[in-house]
Amino acid sequence: MGRFDKAALVLGLAMLLAPLHPSYPRCRVRSGKPAPLTAPPAAAAPAAPAVPAFPRDFTVMVLGGSTSTGRGTSAPENRWTEVFRRVFEAATGSSVTLINMARGGTKADYFAACFPRYLGGAKPDLFLLEFAINGGNVTRLVESIYRHTDVPVALVRQMSCFPASRYASGAPTARESRPKQREQQRTAGYVYRLHEFDLVNELVPYYGSPCSGESLPKLFDLNVAPGQHLNDLGQWLLGEFVARELVRNWGNINSASRRAAAPSVPKELESCFYADEVGSSANSIESVFAPEGEGWAFVEKVPGRTDKTCWQSAVPGSRLVSVAPLDFDRATMYLEFSHRPAKLRVSCGPNATTGKSETLSKITADLGMNGTIVKSASLNGQCHGQRLTVEVLDAAPDRLARVCGISMFVSG
Ligand SMILES: *[C@@H]1O[C@H](CO)[C@@H](O)[C@H](O)[C@H]1NC(C)=O
Ligand SMILES: *[C@@H]1O[C@H](CO)[C@@H](O)[C@H](O)[C@H]1NC(C)=O
Ligand SMILES: *[C@@H]1O[C@H](CO)[C@@H](O)[C@H](O)[C@H]1NC(C)=O
Repeated sequence: MGRFDKAALVLGLAMLLAPLHPSYPRCRVRSGKPAPLTAPPAAAAPAAPAVPAFPRDFTVMVLGGSTSTGRGTSAPENRWTEVFRRVFEAATGSSVTLINMARGGTKADYFAACFPRYLGGAKPDLFLLEFAINGGNVTRLVESIYRHTDVPVALVRQMSCFPASRYASGAPTARESRPKQREQQRTAGYVYRLHEFDLVNELVPYYGSPCSGESLPKLFDLNVAPGQHLNDLGQWLLGEFVARELVRNWGNINSASRRAAAPSVPKELESCFYADEVGSSANSIESVFAPEGEGWAFVEKVPGRTDKTCWQSAVPGSRLVSVAPLDFDRATMYLEFSHRPAKLRVSCGPNATTGKSETLSKITADLGMNGTIVKSASLNGQCHGQRLTVEVLDAAPDRLARVCGISMFVSG
């Protein structure tokens, strides 16, 4: 049996075994071979590599934003990740372990920073990256992954229709569907030859033009943050789509010969402190900072997520100071804001000669959406042998400041 016959058979079985959502378009599935237009060339093509079998146990790590945490759904089992797990298990007989590290409002850069922190537990067999409108430098994240592992990476591309009202009203400038974020993902796919599961191109058109007044109410939650998150149907379709496409492209995704070469070793050395997300206690951001006076506290157990850990303050003028001097030529801080962002000042010092501190960054987040978002802030300026201070200028109970991670670079 040829490779494509086998794939068609597997897919056929999958369609039989997995009860697809009634709204899932079926007409795209083809079986059999298209008739050749000309006689096949005489020389035998090189034998296609054998398609690896589906494993008994399959571990998938999801890195992504709020869509992957299930925002927009009415029940946890409707999250696309759960639908994916059930459909893939039914289609292949594998037992899927999901390690869902998604975090609302998070860009790819947050995961790229200090990537080995995600490899402390069970080793994944596949990474699925889903960033929707959060974007970020997805290429950088893929490089971080491929520097530390040869596990395949695939992109789960879907859209967000924020601001929904402008999209649906047909305002010409609003119908661009976040070209920058889309390009950030496509660039990574292009450079690293990643497989892309593209819901927007493949499935959404069955429900109307993407982000139009026609498709929007069918596929998106319109109650909270209208248009930002796929609703139950949208997430169901996404989960089924990813599972089906993974089954169909199993050989390609797992083919080492199709993978791009490993990225070069970076010139800078990275060191970091981050929220303790995967159980490792080393380098926790909890131990790198200490509050100076009242105000900052290390918060955990954000509702529904026990693994979110950040320093938080609601007190204007409160200061968070590194317990030891730091060394960096440049650094990136990860700050979480909700609804009304607080203003922050980050400084390094005091300088032993001048006795003064130097401001590295004044941070005023532009949230741009109603929700919680993790923003990265570049700290431009060196800090050698001095302490780092984060001061909140205008925090309040409804204007919280959160420091969730810092990634520091020194030239090698
Ligand atoms: C994204 O990251 C890659 C790899 O680190 C880098 O080469 C590229 O310049 C970055 N792109 C942008 C727009 O910053
Ligand atoms: C302290 O300030 C002096 C004078 O501006 C400068 O030359 C020196 O590099 C600074 N030291 C550090 C560690 O930043
Ligand atoms: C933003 O979200 C909060 C909490 O979900 C809600 O109370 C508030 O009304 C929302 N504001 C807008 C402008 O949508």
